[in-house]
Amino acid sequence: MTKENLYLCMGSACHQLGVYEVLPRIQGLISQYHLEESIELKGSFCLETCSSGIVMKFQDKLFVDINPANLEEKFILEILPEIQLKMQECSHG
Ligand code: FES
Repeated sequence: MTKENLYLCMGSACHQLGVYEVLPRIQGLISQYHLEESIELKGSFCLETCSSGIVMKFQDKLFVDINPANLEEKFILEILPEIQLKMQECSHG
């Protein structure tokens, strides 16, 4: 199965908002939910929504307003369902 990329914006605005604090915690969540086989976490250039907090991207969906405090909640409620949806599609061919 090919891995899907999950992008984390590493642009300067997101950097200032604490992307380096968020990064290891995303890696932690990925292993906690056993997504290492299906998801590749990648840094991305500015995703052009700089005024909306730290940004992540999965396929064509942007997840904005991420910060170290709400990361886990956002991941579970918004990002994880998208990943699981994608994984289901894959396993159905
Ligand atoms: S720096 Fe992250 S969206 Fe621009």
